[in-house]
Amino acid sequence: MCGIVAYTGFRNATPLLVEGLRRLEYRGYDSAGIAVFSGERFQIYKQAGKVSALAQAIRGEDISGTVGIAHTRWATHGAPTHANAHPHLSYDENVVLVHNGIIENHGFLRARLEKEGIHPVSETDTEILSHWIAWVRRQFPTLTWTEVIRRAFADVEGTFGVAMMVREAPNLLILVRRFSPLLIGLGQGEFIAASDATAVIPHTREVIHLAEDQAAILHPDMDEPQIFGLREQACAPRREYIDWDVAAIERGGYPHFMLKEIFEQPQAIRDCIRGRIRQEPLEVRLGGISGVMDRILGASRLTLVGCGTSWHAALVGKYLIEQLVQVPVNVEYASEFRYRDPVILHGDVVMGISQSGETADTLAALRMAKSRGALILGVTNVVGSSIPRETHAGIYIHAGPEIGVASTKAFTAQLSALTLFALHLGAVRYTIDRNLHDLLIERLLTLPDLVAQTLDRLNEPIKKLAESFASATNALYLGRGYNFPVALEGALKLKEISYIHAEGYPAAEMKHGPIALIDKNMPVVVIALRDSLYEKVLSNIQEVRARGGRVIAIATEGDENIQQYAESVFYIPDVPEPLSPILTVLPLQLLAYHTAVLRGCDVDQPRNLAKSVTVE
Ligand code: F6R
Repeated sequence: MCGIVAYTGFRNATPLLVEGLRRLEYRGYDSAGIAVFSGERFQIYKQAGKVSALAQAIRGEDISGTVGIAHTRWATHGAPTHANAHPHLSYDENVVLVHNGIIENHGFLRARLEKEGIHPVSETDTEILSHWIAWVRRQFPTLTWTEVIRRAFADVEGTFGVAMMVREAPNLLILVRRFSPLLIGLGQGEFIAASDATAVIPHTREVIHLAEDQAAILHPDMDEPQIFGLREQACAPRREYIDWDVAAIERGGYPHFMLKEIFEQPQAIRDCIRGRIRQEPLEVRLGGISGVMDRILGASRLTLVGCGTSWHAALVGKYLIEQLVQVPVNVEYASEFRYRDPVILHGDVVMGISQSGETADTLAALRMAKSRGALILGVTNVVGSSIPRETHAGIYIHAGPEIGVASTKAFTAQLSALTLFALHLGAVRYTIDRNLHDLLIERLLTLPDLVAQTLDRLNEPIKKLAESFASATNALYLGRGYNFPVALEGALKLKEISYIHAEGYPAAEMKHGPIALIDKNMPVVVIALRDSLYEKVLSNIQEVRARGGRVIAIATEGDENIQQYAESVFYIPDVPEPLSPILTVLPLQLLAYHTAVLRGCDVDQPRNLAKSVTVE
């Protein structure tokens, strides 16, 4: 949610900042802005719209300086206009800053500033923050900036990742963090800070993640950033190394990140299972949770929390864990769980599933569960993000950077990780039949190749199908059992990037309401595998056909019978039911992608969305 990049060093900051914004744009793209200190004054440029509009606006301008901050916005307070775009300059022009998060008591701070005759011009909470810090500085002109920051933020409530410059101290860059992530890239004589590693790793892989309620002062003459706590002494910062490949965050010849990431799924699954399966005896090893296995095994139930696609992965996780581990599993929307005073029993285990590791509601749900005594686990992709830092233990999915706003490879990697988790627990608890255990592991190992073949085989036919989808206004996705969550995921993918209204339903539930929507214009995608529910799903298909609905079936390879029931059939390889969601979701991802492209939608940056939802 919003992207921040900041620089202090010896180079001209402007190109580096604009390039950083391009890499961060998937976090928000309502408006963008940059401020560079030219030696005497701040040069500030902002533009409503995308980073390309900002880049266009500053082309030919002489904007240079060795310290600067930049921002790409996903609007929370105030419309995405020029006035509301960041950076925001304080009333006395001493402070300029960019901000990610929400200042919850901005009304209170505004009132205090107005009493002093300071009147904000934009609608944003961020502008208030800039005046507020400048005003506190004026009250305490002799204090160090460490003390000014502590005093100013003592009265600020909400969430923030802030990067700021001050005119009185050229080349100084100040960062402040509560909740919204910030990391500092450590270069030779330079620091590159950002809300997300993608803007930092082209320059350096040595980083320090700012922890909760920490701030940092950076100056090119410093060997190390000066890190301090907002409330108390900060712990010694820990340097980390990020091993993501720069090429992996480029589009690599694909027209969109989403398509690239769909086709990266074989590798993502391979990376997720690599090193976690031991032969003879065949078994799963999960080093990230080995230290807390006793507590996991002692739990009488598990709760999985997440949002959006990660919540869908959690639903599949429920089917997997209940079948293979025989432990009851609750799946909760993180945003509901955290606010409804849930019962957390002694010995409970709460697992947060999150690609970014930064989703505000998922993080807050885990924190709440931790404060009530639960063991909290994370299944995350982004190494060093907040969730893995705050959980007791966890599993990285190792999907590599996911840039397209619509989650694809993270979903199948999450399912792979949850399958490993269920297999591991099932084996240790002896709740899974040994033959099934070995079969699932063997077939899991073949999945990367099956996924690659399926994508290659289905891409063109699905592109063709998309031509008839592009004019639809509604679509229904049906599935049962393990593939009910996939129906939800297929519908989410379609609506978020093509703006066609779509709903996912358990196939049998359709007749309790949605069936009223079916007519000849309504495409109905049905996941109808030859599994334990095959006959039931065929009956559901008949119900759709009887009302004139168009049926598109996702079926098991070799099932010719299904052809008489469906307008078109897309086959996936025959795998055991618990593994099937990793394959059935592939045609649905491709369908959403090609439909969105045909409708001229911005696939990687759909309207109103942002990749990492770090506000509530
Ligand atoms: C949908 C999508 C979102 C995310 C959700 C959670 O394609 O990407 O629904 O799944 O915002 O994000 P993470 O997994 O980062 O917690």
